[in-house]
Amino acid sequence: MIEYRPLRVALLGAGSVGSQVARLLLTNRVELAARVGAELELVGIAVRNLDAKREGDLPASLFTTDAETLILGADIVIEVMGGIEPARSYILLALNSGSDVITANKALLATHGTELFDAAEQVGAQLYFEAAVAAAIPIIRPLRESLAGDKVTRIMGIVNGSTNYILDRMDTAGLSLEAAMVEATDLGYLEADPSLDVEGFDAAQKAAILASLAFHTEVPLEQVYREGITKVTAEQMIAAKRDGYVIKLLAICERIAADDSGEGGISVRVYPALIPQEHPLGAVRGAFNAVFVEAEAAGALMFYGSGAGGVQTASAILGDLVSAAKRHVAGGPGLADSVHANLPVLPIERVLTRYQITLGVADQPGVLAKVAQTFADHDVSIETVEQGLRAVAGRKSVALLEIGTHQASDAALSAVVAALAASDAVESISSVIRVEGI
Ligand code: NDP
Ligand code: HSE
Repeated sequence: MIEYRPLRVALLGAGSVGSQVARLLLTNRVELAARVGAELELVGIAVRNLDAKREGDLPASLFTTDAETLILGADIVIEVMGGIEPARSYILLALNSGSDVITANKALLATHGTELFDAAEQVGAQLYFEAAVAAAIPIIRPLRESLAGDKVTRIMGIVNGSTNYILDRMDTAGLSLEAAMVEATDLGYLEADPSLDVEGFDAAQKAAILASLAFHTEVPLEQVYREGITKVTAEQMIAAKRDGYVIKLLAICERIAADDSGEGGISVRVYPALIPQEHPLGAVRGAFNAVFVEAEAAGALMFYGSGAGGVQTASAILGDLVSAAKRHVAGGPGLADSVHANLPVLPIERVLTRYQITLGVADQPGVLAKVAQTFADHDVSIETVEQGLRAVAGRKSVALLEIGTHQASDAALSAVVAALAASDAVESISSVIRVEGI
């Protein structure tokens, strides 16, 4: 029996995600009330344009352009507008008036998260954000709750679906980057500003959120190292496949041990890298997402599923809504994320990784020795070398060398690349890519 008063839910936004949240809330009203112990009453939906054509059959009477009045009359506010302003101001208004807030807005959390969490803490309200990283995949709650007693050491994830789709099509259908981007655009996978996806900004925002939860540390977005996929070539894809790898845009968050200077910390970074085809992330196809978490006691954990899509994202939001509503009805502790560890976010130079470098060199005696010496000069150990011949018309023959390194600091590896570029033994450098997951 439901004895608690109805809880008033305000929805900000009725686009891809918001329209699905509204539909599920209305369709599953009875079931949700039974789960929560109170009716969840959708009291209004704030939008910009009342005349816009919308998905589903939502009652026109719910729509308003007066978001502030809607917020002030709600117990729980769901923000699925996106962008920084007015989303930030609306969330602050909701929190300061004592409402719990649910948001899917990774861009806002990655840039103004501290301000929003502080505001929530001051008034004892809760800010939920399961949908902000990898949409339908439960990853925020496992990090906030299930792994709260463990020590997460590393997270490696594919957290941007559109770039995974693009790389997958390059890999499986042999498409160029441009052709794969056209497909992704036609399928509606890319953000309105595609650079958010292909330049790695979206993945960097998600990496900042994951790292701050995993390492109990504030992670400013500017300190997330970021490279997108725009320089990945069809030739790199072919070479990767031949060598048993696949190229993925990886978001990596990891603890870094202290070096000789005594400074340890964390690294948070996004870049395309080779990973072995048999690695769990190597099998993540299409627009799917996956997050591979390593923790001291739990060991390796894999989270996999839909990282985008209106209804998939709405699933995560409804999960947060049930949690928030149950807290109203039954009380119980809220979630407070701690940044007590306050670990330094270290620069990319401190990261230990491997490079695979493809060079064109003159096919002459002594050239290989010179190239090898360049690696030795920077204390970088070579693990594999493969040589193929490429005849160039009208000129001396050029040998292609594909060199894989052992693990070394990114500083040493990039110094090797700079030295190779300046070496008279090297005619061209056609590919430099990191290798992860081995
Ligand atoms: P859409 O662009 O489809 O929808 C945005 C909605 O917000 C629209 O209904 C729009 O109103 C409304 N809106 C925008 N600005 C205002 C404003 N100033 N005042 C009132 N209403 C406003 O976005 P999505 O649904 O795709 O995304 C929403 C959020 O969810 C974003 O933060 C996004 O990053 C996040 N997210 C999205 C995923 C996805 O797959 N789409 C996956 C995971 C997270 P109107 O319709 O009148 O223009
Ligand atoms: N642009 C994002 C992606 C949407 O491609 O994953 C989900 O956050």
